[in-house]
Amino acid sequence: MTDQELVKKAFEMHQFSYVPYSHFPVGAALLTEDGRVFTGCNVENAAYGSAICAERTAVLKAVSEGCREGWTAIAIAGQGEDYCWPCGACRQVLYEFAPGLRVLAARGDGDYKEVSLAELLPCGFGPSSLQ
Ligand code: THU
Repeated sequence: MTDQELVKKAFEMHQFSYVPYSHFPVGAALLTEDGRVFTGCNVENAAYGSAICAERTAVLKAVSEGCREGWTAIAIAGQGEDYCWPCGACRQVLYEFAPGLRVLAARGDGDYKEVSLAELLPCGFGPSSLQ
């Protein structure tokens, strides 16, 4: 799967986003080294703080299906002019399982930028920090 194809899968998740409050759909697609893809969308809630981001939806799908390792990249697709960088909570949740993850952040026109999770969350606190 190419990066471009992963970004496309993230955009395809906009159709499932539940965004009656922000009207800002976000899709995510998490790729593993054996070629599996776990997708996610944002799911909002009338109690606003109970919303979950697209990235964490994808993470929870992967982990709950027994896939905790070998994550290579995540594509995140928003809309509008800005690249859709993961929020702080999602950076932390991704760091738990894949501190070296490649992050592809896309904006509405399909253009995207690649950064590493380590760049987005320097000096992160992870499992090894507890040892
Ligand atoms: N959102 C995501 O799903 N991922 C991000 O990286 C940024 C924000 C969602 C949360 C909320 O449903 C909407 O975008 C507006 O903040």
